[in-house]
This record gives sequence, structure tokens and C-alpha cells, in this order.
Amino acid sequence: MSKLLQLVILFIYFISIIVAAGGCWSSGYGGCNDGGCSSFGGYCVNYGAPPNNKCRYAAKHIDDDDDSFSVATDEKCHVVRLDGYHLKSSDLVRLGTGDYRIELPEETWTTIRKSREIVDKIIDEKKVVYGVNTGFGSFASTIISNEKLADLQTRLIVSHCAGVGEPLTIERARMMFALRINILAKGYSGISEETLRKIIAAFNKSCIPEIPSQGTVGASGDLAPLSHLAAGLMGVGRMWSPKTGWGNASDVLEQNELGLIEYKAKEGLTMINGTQFITALGAEAVERAMSIARQADVIAALSTEALRGTVRHLHPKLHASRPHLGQNLVAERLRSLLISEVHPSEISKSHANCGRVQDAYSIRCVPQVHGISWDTIRFVKKIITTEMNSATDNPLVFIDSNEVVSGGNFHGEYPAKSLDYLAIGVHEIGSLSECRMERLVNHGMSGLPAFLTLEGGLNSGFMIAHCTAAALVSENKVLCHPSSVDSISTSAGQEDHVSMGGWSARKALKVLDNVEILLAIELLMACQAIDLLHPLTSTPPLQAIHDLVRQSISTWDKDRFMSHDIEKATRIIKSGIVWKTVQPHIQNYLDRHHKIDLARPAECEHKLM
Ligand SMILES: *[C@@H]1O[C@H](CO)[C@@H](O)[C@H](O)[C@H]1NC(C)=O
Ligand SMILES: *[C@@H]1O[C@H](CO)[C@@H](O)[C@H](O)[C@H]1NC(C)=O
Ligand SMILES: *[C@@H]1O[C@H](CO)[C@@H](O)[C@H](O)[C@H]1NC(C)=O
Repeated sequence: MSKLLQLVILFIYFISIIVAAGGCWSSGYGGCNDGGCSSFGGYCVNYGAPPNNKCRYAAKHIDDDDDSFSVATDEKCHVVRLDGYHLKSSDLVRLGTGDYRIELPEETWTTIRKSREIVDKIIDEKKVVYGVNTGFGSFASTIISNEKLADLQTRLIVSHCAGVGEPLTIERARMMFALRINILAKGYSGISEETLRKIIAAFNKSCIPEIPSQGTVGASGDLAPLSHLAAGLMGVGRMWSPKTGWGNASDVLEQNELGLIEYKAKEGLTMINGTQFITALGAEAVERAMSIARQADVIAALSTEALRGTVRHLHPKLHASRPHLGQNLVAERLRSLLISEVHPSEISKSHANCGRVQDAYSIRCVPQVHGISWDTIRFVKKIITTEMNSATDNPLVFIDSNEVVSGGNFHGEYPAKSLDYLAIGVHEIGSLSECRMERLVNHGMSGLPAFLTLEGGLNSGFMIAHCTAAALVSENKVLCHPSSVDSISTSAGQEDHVSMGGWSARKALKVLDNVEILLAIELLMACQAIDLLHPLTSTPPLQAIHDLVRQSISTWDKDRFMSHDIEKATRIIKSGIVWKTVQPHIQNYLDRHHKIDLARPAECEHKLM
């Protein structure tokens, strides 16, 4: 469905809600915490079932992940089919695990063969084409004779192996490797079938070159990191495989019964001119960011309960009056988790008549703040997905018109800028989380025991866990300085503008690490607060989250070694189980309240969530 059509349907949907809602929201939805309006339902049930297309839109609305690319993964056979057009970030993360091998469709091989024929013809006819029979970068006007073309590739790659710093993890290096294969599969690079088959064979045996993480300016492509990848396959540098562990690349290849690759004319440049370092890390970043954003809504709901906040600010009319997609999506998620006819809450009922009209922004404005974070993540996911399926080397070979064209697709400004935005968007989720933590530990704001501990003074409770949160948020504020606003001229002024996207990607991941921990600490605090409100209980979905945490982390009844609890809670966040736990409850709410038909194939659901 086109975006425009979606917007129109969304608009009609909201109008129908507003019309249908006439009664209860305006009159009954008044009191603190909406005591009378266990009534989210009263009228909601009267929504009736909207026509089918609207249902489907609404079903998408609760998660609203863009799924416009077809599925490349064969789960059963553990194979991902790469054709250069259909790879999704979730596929790439899967490829990073080492559990999947790569296959190219037959049509793709045909294109690859044709594309190489054009390169071979240029060499035979001794035409001069950049990158095929010239020097590189500002040596572009130096012509290289045919006998020296293979030597040229070797020299190109080893000289460009200038990376420094911590190596990428095996998973991330593997993602970058797979992504490079996807780009080559587009058939614009002029790589030979023979070389590409050898490259895929190495991937299939999980032979992963060591790739240093620093030293790309992200403009002539990620030259240094991609050169380390290319060099490993030549048998130069260090390499890892499951069979051998870390070792000298030529030994590792040999023990895996693989030959050393000798790059033919143009193939060296084909391997290294592109944005796959930035984009591979970016794919991991968008997947984790989505998981963070969904779970942040759940944890914010839990804190709202713990702080005995109202739910008035979640009124659908209020959000429909500002129809940003993310905001409305988050508000809908929060409505489906907090008190309603479907989901009663003893905690909520206990303060129904407290007289508080509105809460602080870190509770009241969750839809408005998390909303733009969600919209930002979706925007970035789109850019990264397009980039993952783009030909980013140079020059490109077009078989239909029999042309070799030189241009600038290797420039990383797209992924660089978008990952700077991603960091800023996800940081805000952590920042808001910290605001709620301050409220949770501050007796004056929470009405709960100071620092969420009994016997305060003898126990310090969550005092320093909050300091940790403050430190991480502060760190993120510095990491959010966009790296793509910088540029330093390289290659004697030929490459005078660069993206600095490698650093955008690395620091976006660091921001995500910190936000995962922040949410973990808030989760611990909120569960502790719920325990302190015992015997009152929360709504079934939020109670399920509390119980999930208590399976591995006990109530804080006496001071103990805090960082163990934080580590365990961080593992819970990273696993995504907080979201999975509430999903059936959300679905139940939607089914009952909006009478929404969530009929989406189960496998598809699994992909989206
Ligand atoms: C990648 O392509 C661009 C554009 O031709 C070029 O300036 C750059 O030097 C290339 N990379 C290498 C290693 O030559
Ligand atoms: C890689 O593994 C897949 C799945 O087993 C297989 O179909 C493909 O032919 C392999 N490719 C190479 C080049 O070994
Ligand atoms: C890697 O192994 C090859 C073959 O055994 C050997 O010639 C080479 O010196 C080794 N390189 C390093 C860096 O150990």
C-alpha cells in the first residue's frame, strides 16, 4: 500500500474513532486515573468492527514495522538468498550469527557473468577505465599495463589495510562480509563468477577475517575495513573459523580446504569501494533500536503504575488530534498495558480518587517523546535497508547498456547521517527513563520508601544504581554529537568531502548499549516499587513483566551486590523478552476493545515483532 493511501486510511480511521467515541471519552474519562472509566471499554466495545482494510491498518498500527521487502531467509534450511535487492536488517543480523549460509539465485549468476564479460572486453581492447586499468584515488590518471593488473589488485588491498583499533566482533565482521556479497550479487561490480564463488565458499565455512574497527572516513567507501576483509580472503592477516579458532589467514583457509583468492583486474576495487562497514553496523543498530523502543514503552508503563500515575493523557482523542504515527502508536501500546476494562489494576483503583490531575512529563509525555524516537528509528531503518540493497562501489558496470560508469555511490553520507539521527532518537528514550528513575528513588516524588528500600539508612537500596543511570545518560549526551557534521579532506584533495559514518555507526551502537542498561535499571526499580505496593497488583501484562523479572532477580530486601542484578536485567532487555511477554496481552486488548482483526500470518508476526 502506498504511503499516501496509508495516511488517508489512518485519517479516516481516526475520524471514525472520534465519531464512535462521542460518549465515554468526553464525559466519563474525567477522574484521576479514570477510575470510572474502567470504561476504556464501555464504549470501546461499541466501536464495532471497522471495515477490513482499516482493521488491517490498525493491526499494523500497534507495531507498524515497515515490511516492504520480501523475505530472503529460509529458516528451515538455514540459508539466506542474496540477490542484491531483498535483504532486510533482520536477515543480516541472522547472517551475523553464523547459523546461516549464503546462496545466490541462478538469474543472479547470469547477470554477474554478463557484467564480467564487459570488464574483460575493456581489458582486451586496452580501453582506459578508472579502477580497471588505472591507479586509484588521486592516481586515477596513471595507466597500468595489462600484465600488471593482477599485481595492482594485491598492492591496492595490502596498502589499504591501514585499519587500527579493536577488531570487530566475529558477528559484526560476518555481517559486513555478508553485506558485501549482497552488493556484489547486484551484478554491477564486474566481479568474476569464479572469485565470487570462492568468497561465498569462505563465508559458508565461516572463515572471518580480522577487521579493525577504526580508520574509515566513510566516503570512498569504508576502504580500510573492507581491505582487511579482502586481504583475509587472499590469506593475508588474521582470520577466525569455527574449525581453527584465530590463526594466520592462509592457514585457516587451508585447514578449511579453501584456496587463497587471487583478485583479477578490477576485483580489488570491487571488494573495497563501498559503505558496508557503516551499513552492517547500522543494520544491527536499527534492529536493536526497535527492540529497545518497544520495550521502553512497556517499562514506562510499569513505572507509571509504580508511581501511581494517571492514564488520562492516553486519551485517544488527544492523540488523534496530533496525528503523528509514532505518538499514536506508543499511546495505543500504553493504553493496552495500563488499566482498562480488559486489564484491571488494583494499584490503579487504589488511587482512583487521589485528585491528581496530571503527572510530570516523563510520564505524561511518553507518547510524544517515544513517538518521535519510534518514527526516527523507522526512518533510519528505511535508509539502512535501501543502502543494504544498493550498488555502492565504483565504477559500476551496466550490462543492459554495455557501459562502465564512474560516480559517487560509495559516499557514506546516507548511512552516516541516519545513524547520527538514530543515536539521538534512542538516547532520548534513555534520557526519559532516567527522569522516571529519579522520581522512583526520590521519596518526595514517589511516596514510596526512599531509594526503594526498607530499613533506609541501614540499606542504601537503589541510590547508586540511579547514579549509574545518570552517568550513562550523560555519556550518551556526548556521544550524540553528530559525527557526520565533520569532514576532513583526503587523497590530496580529490576526496575533499567525507561522511565520517564509521564513527556514527560505532557510537550509535555505544548509545544503544547504554540505553539497554538504562532500561534494565528502570525495570529493576519499577519491579521493586511494585513489590513495595504489595499486596496490590498491577494489570495482568505488567504483572507478567514483574513476574518475569522475579524469576531470575529477587526482591531487594537487604543490600547486596548491585551490578549482578543490573547485568541480569540487561540480559533480559537484550533478549527482547519483555516485549514478547506482553504481546499476547496487547493482542487480547486489541481483540476485545477495538474488535480488531489481527489476522496476520504467524510467521510474519514473528518477523515483525
Ligand atoms: C573508490 O571510488 C572513488 C571514486 O572513483 C575513488 O575516488 C576512490 O579512490 C575509490 N577507492 C579507491 C580505493 O580507489
Ligand atoms: C553455500 O551454502 C549454500 C547452502 O548450503 C549452498 O547452497 C551454496 O551452494 C554454498 N555456496 C558455495 C559457493 O559454497
Ligand atoms: C602464515 O602462514 C604462512 C604459511 O604457513 C607462512 O608462510 C606465513 O609466514 C605465516 N604468516 C604469519 C604472519 O605468521
